[in-house]
Amino acid sequence: MAGQLVDRVALITGASRGIGRCMAELFAQEGASVALVARSADALQDVSDAIIGRGGRALALPTDLVDPDAGSAAVERAQEEFGRIDVLINNAGGSSFMAPVAESRMSGVAKTMALNFDATLRMIQAVVPGMTARGRGSIVNVSSVTALRASPLLGHYGAAKAAVVSITQTLGVELAPTGVRVNALVPGWIATDLTEFLRGDDALEASILDRVPMHRWGTPDEIASAALFLASDASSFMTGQSLIVDGGLSANP
Ligand SMILES: NC(=O)c1ccc[n+]([C@@H]2O[C@H](COP(=O)([O-])OP(=O)(O)OC[C@H]3O[C@@H](n4cnc5c(N)ncnc54)[C@H](OP(=O)(O)O)[C@@H]3O)[C@@H](O)[C@H]2O)c1
Repeated sequence: MAGQLVDRVALITGASRGIGRCMAELFAQEGASVALVARSADALQDVSDAIIGRGGRALALPTDLVDPDAGSAAVERAQEEFGRIDVLINNAGGSSFMAPVAESRMSGVAKTMALNFDATLRMIQAVVPGMTARGRGSIVNVSSVTALRASPLLGHYGAAKAAVVSITQTLGVELAPTGVRVNALVPGWIATDLTEFLRGDDALEASILDRVPMHRWGTPDEIASAALFLASDASSFMTGQSLIVDGGLSANP
């Protein structure tokens, strides 16, 4: 099979829907064996069945990444099935509430950090020993434009995603001599379940799109194609960087 990820094994978190599902399908199409992580077993199995039905290799690994031991168990299972992990995509994430920073409950902030930052770091720690031993690997951490600028009502989420950008830079430098690359992918506003409530409110949607120079929502495949670039050898001289895919939002003064 021709493709940019032939003979590669990719573990993708948040693969049950949205951006992660799109990445899983694209990576499989490009030749990767894909290990799929999310909580919803049925949705994950659907993604896996669809990939296998098209001749690809996939494994559904239902996992709650907020559980401190669950991520490393999924990594072990994927390694047993496929022999190794060449690519880790830390895509699971999101926020379950909106509030001004000064009024945010610390329990809510901790939950947001647990999913977006702690789980990301634990997955990295689980795959890095195998990657460094083989002298090869690519890790892509999904951040958000909320990490780069003020994000009223989403400050807790932006802080977690900024922490993701920060460890990406440091890991990129620390791991560069080992052959393992680490980059962040920074989406703007993308049409998925996560942002559905915003599209349901005309005034809110208009206020969001007014600031996006392309004046539209991004699509999951526009993020998946950027993830493919970072995951594959197409970005072989790139590490510790953030690739912003946001319709021009962060360039807007
Ligand atoms: N959509 C946007 O506008 C946007 C913008 C910037 C950044 N992002 C980031 O892009 C990534 C994907 O977002 P999306 O829009 O595709 O979101 P989504 O449609 O809500 O999908 C989120 C994915 O994460 C999984 N997930 C959530 N909690 C989990 C947990 N505790 N353990 C394991 N998996 C979990 C979900 O599956 P289960 O529910 O089955 O667990 C789902 O597969 C996230 O990191 C998000 O922060 C999105």
